[in-house]
Amino acid sequence: MKSRSIIPLPHYLIIAITLSSLPAAAGDPWSESAIQDHVNQQDYLGTLDKHTLLALMEAGEHLFDARFTVEDGVGRPMATQAIIPTKRKRVPRTEFSRTAGLDANACSSCHNVPVIGGAGDFSANVFVSEGFQHTDFDSTDPQFSNERNTNHLFGAGLIELLAREMSRDLMLLRTQALQLAQETQASITQPLQSKGVSFGSLIVHADGRVDTQHIDGVDHDLVIRPFSHKGVMTSLRQFTVNALNHHHGMQANERFGARWTGTDDFDEDGNTREITDGDVSALVAWQATLPPPVASPPVNARWAEAAKAGEKQFDALGCADCHKRYLPLTSLMFDDPGPMDAAGTLRQGESGGSTYDLALLDWASTLERLDNGDIKVPLFGDLKRHVIADQQVAVLGNELLSQRFVERNVFMTTELWGVASTAPYGHRGQLTTLREVINAHGGDARDARDGWKSLSRQEQDELIAWLKTMVIQP
Ligand code: HEC
Ligand code: HEC
Repeated sequence: MKSRSIIPLPHYLIIAITLSSLPAAAGDPWSESAIQDHVNQQDYLGTLDKHTLLALMEAGEHLFDARFTVEDGVGRPMATQAIIPTKRKRVPRTEFSRTAGLDANACSSCHNVPVIGGAGDFSANVFVSEGFQHTDFDSTDPQFSNERNTNHLFGAGLIELLAREMSRDLMLLRTQALQLAQETQASITQPLQSKGVSFGSLIVHADGRVDTQHIDGVDHDLVIRPFSHKGVMTSLRQFTVNALNHHHGMQANERFGARWTGTDDFDEDGNTREITDGDVSALVAWQATLPPPVASPPVNARWAEAAKAGEKQFDALGCADCHKRYLPLTSLMFDDPGPMDAAGTLRQGESGGSTYDLALLDWASTLERLDNGDIKVPLFGDLKRHVIADQQVAVLGNELLSQRFVERNVFMTTELWGVASTAPYGHRGQLTTLREVINAHGGDARDARDGWKSLSRQEQDELIAWLKTMVIQP
């Protein structure tokens, strides 16, 4: 080989060449990373003051709206959408697909009706499969996945706090019953009730055995799982880690990192630092602090009159048995990770978590309180799962795959706050009007629905006029 002579370059030229050949750094306007700065969990430990909470929320909003790119770690060539880290057999032919995913670019690609953090159009539906199979499904046929419409996240922090208090209540009842059974050496039937919602009963024996067959609407571990239409997801943190992997192939270190999988690049996309603990915390903080939807006063007397009559119908028909007007909440202190975060997320007591008081937010002062100081959370739900389809009224019994061993015709009561702003309706989002979805109530809601069917058209319209006052205020 011929050696080349090296001609020395002038200094300024060397500098210019070096600068121009530098890769785009985070923060450069031409950088193709959506995540410019990862959030450092260590900056948000302990109880946060308002200023620090606002900073975390802002980082979270940015992440929720970020169109993630391959530079950030988009893609999971060798991992499925499964919640438990699961390898694929081979790299998929197409990385993006509306079925098995990656199915979107940002959280806000789906959660955007009427604003970011909101619900989603039918076109943004998700094909939920537990995803343990090694090959992808490329069909919307219900034998491969459960098709779900996007729900809104307004008030989600209050919902999670309610669920935590209810889980704690139910577990305390179990503990007390066990103690009493032991003391009295007798079997005890313990009704399970929290915040006025009944979850069946336990039979507790003196030798410590617990008979769970009469539990109703909650898992046998008595943890209320308030998220997803099915009511099978525990916390915003858990859901966020799931969603990041499922929709975007963005893998959170706390689940997919070396601690649990033995590798820093479980999905084998060449990116080892996709989502930090702090990034997840920021996403959680933004979602948990979204204001709850409100009742917006009718704009004219005719609407006001109709809504007033409709509200009465709602109670008379028994709609409020499940869509409870409010559930009482004792504390607005939000721990993240929370007490129920157990598997596949950061856990309490393991490493630093943070705590913030939702009362720091302006909207908190608008919530009504009961005489004992409890906050009335006007969710129009009960955080309980119900049979919602039967032989005659089967529209909502349309899924073929059970999820997490919950029966196929069982779903969690949808919270109706914000319902006027979140069409389409039903867990699959194929129902365009409130009338259709009310007609579709079967199973445990059959009596209420039959009562509604027997109303005159005008009375039905009045009920809808009232539901139309429940909005998400931009
Ligand atoms: C492709 C559309 C889509 C994208 C993208 C998406 N979601 Fe969702 N989201 C949904 C659907 C559909 C549901 C309901 C799922 C179900 O019932 O199984 C949902 C439910 C949720 C819930 C539970 C809400 C409740 O009240 O039950 C949370 C929390 C959530 N998403 C957060 C996120 C976050 C965070 C991201 C981004 C990392 C994200 N989502 C991205 C469609 C999407
Ligand atoms: C036995 C409990 C129960 C009763 C009683 C009940 N519902 Fe529901 N409701 C549910 C459940 C569960 C869902 C979720 C259905 C689904 O999509 O799978 C739901 C969903 C809805 C929705 C759709 C919300 C959305 O965003 O998709 C509306 C509206 C609604 N109910 C109104 C009513 C009205 C009005 C009544 C009284 C006529 C009523 N419900 C009675 C349990 C009940």
